[in-house]
Amino acid sequence: MKLQVLPSDPCEIDFSWYNMIRNELLRKTVPRAIKVLDVGCRGGEVLFMLQEQIEHGIGIDISKEDVTYTEKERKKRNIKNLEFIQADAKELPFASGSFDVVLCLGDVLSYSNLYAEENLALSEIVRVLTDDGLTVHECMNWDWEYRLAPYWTFFMHTQDGRYFFHRNRRTVSGLETSRQYEVLRGSPLHDWVSQQNWPVSPQGERTSLDVREESPIPRRWLMFRGVSKHQNYTPRSLKRRYQKAGFRNVQVFAYGQTYDIASKAGLLETVGHSKAALAKAEAELAFKLCMGSGPWLFLVGRKRA
Ligand SMILES: C[S@@+](CC[C@H](N)C(=O)[O-])C[C@H]1O[C@@H](n2cnc3c(N)ncnc32)[C@H](O)[C@@H]1O
Repeated sequence: MKLQVLPSDPCEIDFSWYNMIRNELLRKTVPRAIKVLDVGCRGGEVLFMLQEQIEHGIGIDISKEDVTYTEKERKKRNIKNLEFIQADAKELPFASGSFDVVLCLGDVLSYSNLYAEENLALSEIVRVLTDDGLTVHECMNWDWEYRLAPYWTFFMHTQDGRYFFHRNRRTVSGLETSRQYEVLRGSPLHDWVSQQNWPVSPQGERTSLDVREESPIPRRWLMFRGVSKHQNYTPRSLKRRYQKAGFRNVQVFAYGQTYDIASKAGLLETVGHSKAALAKAEAELAFKLCMGSGPWLFLVGRKRA
């Protein structure tokens, strides 16, 4: 076995920086005093952040656990203009033309239950929007993630001290197949992986350990745990999908460059305190230039009846 540890992608390390840029982008995109739907809202962070600038917001998620938790959080904060309900993006329980803005953020469409039927989800988003309603989509930029090779291999760890090995491959059409294996305790691989210097986020969490297999890991050290598939969107394929669904003036751009540049220049420590200012500057520029590369994609499109 020969494994080379690779430098971690910055976007796996400090999500707080990305969230700051995303929040700036959303504050600029979402107009004031309007009705907003957040599809795949999970913990409701985005609606909580936008709550003061909108008239009414509804978050839906397929996970009952997430919406129950988020509704509890809303009540605790005594927020009256938001609600969170369980629903499927493929069958939105709202009348046509109910929302001025529909958000779909954080890779929701690429979930395995959705990507094969993304047309259903997209046509539902079109349906519930007003005639000139706005949609905002955000997802990972897989052209970026796979820019060095058509494969991506890494270790993850669980809270109870187990290690998992992921062998991800991407086809030209953008379909990613992820094979997952548990590292067997007592194997030389288990010893190796537990002794590595795992990257730690500024929030103190150990992130994933990216590696390159210079010779294959012997299968006897691994237990196969299943395979999952995801659709990977690239700037072009994402734009095409939204245009096909009937959106006009579709703009897609990548963001996350400031973190990447600071990280490559070894400046993360130095600029740490000015993160918020950098995030603001990047959001301004991203909108003006509407181009670039980076780990995340942001799309804005308008429905025109
Ligand atoms: C990665 S999270 C993104 C959360 C949030 N939008 C954000 O950006 O922080 C994706 C969410 O999509 C939800 N989801 C997956 N399939 C869904 C579906 N068919 N309908 C509604 N929500 C779905 C998942 O339960 C999960 O909470």
